[in-house]
Amino acid sequence: MTDQCKLFEPDKEQIGLCKDLLEADQLIAVPTETVYGLAGNALSEVAVRKIFSVKGRPLVDPLITHYQDAEAAFEHVVFNKAADRIAQAFWPGPITLVLPKRRSLSDLITAGLPTAAVRVPQHPVFKQLLSILDFPLAAPSANPFGYVSPTRPSHVAATLGSRISGILNGGPSNIGIESTILDLRDPQNVAILRPGPVSREAIEEALQQSVSIRKAPANDSDPQSSPGQLSRHYSPRTSLTIIPNGSGEAYAIHNHQPGQAVILNQKPRDNSDLSGDLYWLSESEDMLEMSQHFFDLLQRLDKHNYTQLAVESLPEQGIGIALNDRLRRAAAKS
Ligand code: TXA
Ligand code: MG
Repeated sequence: MTDQCKLFEPDKEQIGLCKDLLEADQLIAVPTETVYGLAGNALSEVAVRKIFSVKGRPLVDPLITHYQDAEAAFEHVVFNKAADRIAQAFWPGPITLVLPKRRSLSDLITAGLPTAAVRVPQHPVFKQLLSILDFPLAAPSANPFGYVSPTRPSHVAATLGSRISGILNGGPSNIGIESTILDLRDPQNVAILRPGPVSREAIEEALQQSVSIRKAPANDSDPQSSPGQLSRHYSPRTSLTIIPNGSGEAYAIHNHQPGQAVILNQKPRDNSDLSGDLYWLSESEDMLEMSQHFFDLLQRLDKHNYTQLAVESLPEQGIGIALNDRLRRAAAKS
């Protein structure tokens, strides 16, 4: 890794060192199945303030807290039957629940909202760390505010490495985009606040009721129906433009500009008319593979001197809905 940032290996002894640092209000980047998180003791004001400051995140944008199991999570929020069902169906896993908070979670962590976002992750290394701590971990994605999310230790080291106490190595995140966020305050009126790996259909199936998708406000100066819905987010420094799904190969043949990288969903079937600066998210039609490589490829290509990244949008189904949401925000100008 870098001189400035220690990489902790996922064995008992080094996970123990991470515990010591977290107990001393230090920050560690942790692996999750979605993306790497910038973790600190959720019950320590000092640690939580550090998270906002290291990430450069405005204090009005609340943090997710992570727990070992649903029982631990439900000590800090007021749960209901629908939340219980979702927890049973999908935890540990890539879904975050928004519920009324209890007093044990600070106003700092929830940005003064009466609700809190809680998640029980599935990554074995993160689970092991949570199981030896006697406090939950607050963890936003471990990227500078507004930048592309990290799915590997090297992504974290390159951006926040000099400002944290280390990175716990859990390998590449095997989903690669952030959790679905579900507003469960009112069990009769459940809404997805951020699309993610757990689809609307899967949630509706578990709840046996329909679920809405809360749209972001039309512009960022509107009062936000939910925090964290800025139109510009997940953005590489290089400008990014979207190619409609299904027209990636034709674009690469007819419209490719010098200095531009073209990113297709999948490996082209026929390479003969295609020239350089061409990348793809997946060898086949596998949407999970596309998701695993999505942020990684944006992180890698952002280090080249491309003038523009032209990215083919994904099929609007399953996890493709969440990837297209991230893509639209990455391409937004403001
Ligand atoms: O997969 C994930 O969710 C990753 C890993 C590390 O767990 N975390 C993550 O955190 O993506 P972050 O902070 O990058 O995004 C969390 C989003 C933010 O947009 C925040 O505004 C929203 O969750 N959020 C947090 N608390 C909320 C609340 N009480 N009501 C509505 N939205 C909330
Ligand atoms: Mg984030």
